[in-house]
Amino acid sequence: MPKSISYSRTTITELMIPSYANFGGKIHGGILLSLMDKVAYACASKHAGAYVVTVSVDGVNFLQPIEVGELLSLHASVNYVGRSSMVIGIRVVSENVKTGEKKHTNTSYFTMVAKDDITGKPTEVPELILESKDDIRRCLEAIKRKQLKEVYRDDFDNEISELHVEKDLHLLANERIIINP
Ligand SMILES: CC(C)(COP(=O)(O)OP(=O)(O)OC[C@H]1O[C@@H](n2cnc3c(N)ncnc32)[C@H](O)[C@@H]1OP(=O)(O)O)[C@@H](O)C(=O)NCCC(=O)NCCS
Repeated sequence: MPKSISYSRTTITELMIPSYANFGGKIHGGILLSLMDKVAYACASKHAGAYVVTVSVDGVNFLQPIEVGELLSLHASVNYVGRSSMVIGIRVVSENVKTGEKKHTNTSYFTMVAKDDITGKPTEVPELILESKDDIRRCLEAIKRKQLKEVYRDDFDNEISELHVEKDLHLLANERIIINP
């Protein structure tokens, strides 16, 4: 049966405690990735009504540091569904609990695939009901992102297959690389 986006929309809120910090006193990127994976899992498995696996992660850019003591909220919703795959959009917002000031730290997209418990193979997920203009926009963006990734993957594979160490050595000319054979 088709499901709406609101049915599986999920938020995880977690206080950033000192053990999450790196040597510079900011929150480890790995902690953030783990929380994003968790909320993506919760949201996707709720839509699918099945266990899911993480297949691919897009748009992870940590542009603003997160401080110890901040309250992190990760908002996840299904943006697109294929046959067995789902694109989960995750918006991360960090709040200074003393001032109430909020900052949007990143928005990322996790592709999750539903698996059948018995066969372990990808299994069909319910169709997605879009209820607003924003739902439609996010879904169209997900389709565009998927198409561009396929083009990029093909272009990259072609470039790599044609890579020639002697011929392409000039690419290192302006880099801060030293060859010391
Ligand atoms: C991803 C996985 C399920 C694909 O299995 P498969 O037998 O090749 O199945 P398919 O080719 O039918 O792909 C299944 C779906 O995954 C999607 N998919 C596969 N590779 C993908 C990729 N790199 N990026 C995005 N989606 C991908 C396919 O498009 C397909 O989607 P659809 O059903 O909506 O059309 C399988 O490779 C797997 O289980 N990987 C390990 C996942 C895991 O353990 N994650 C945790 C990481 S620690």
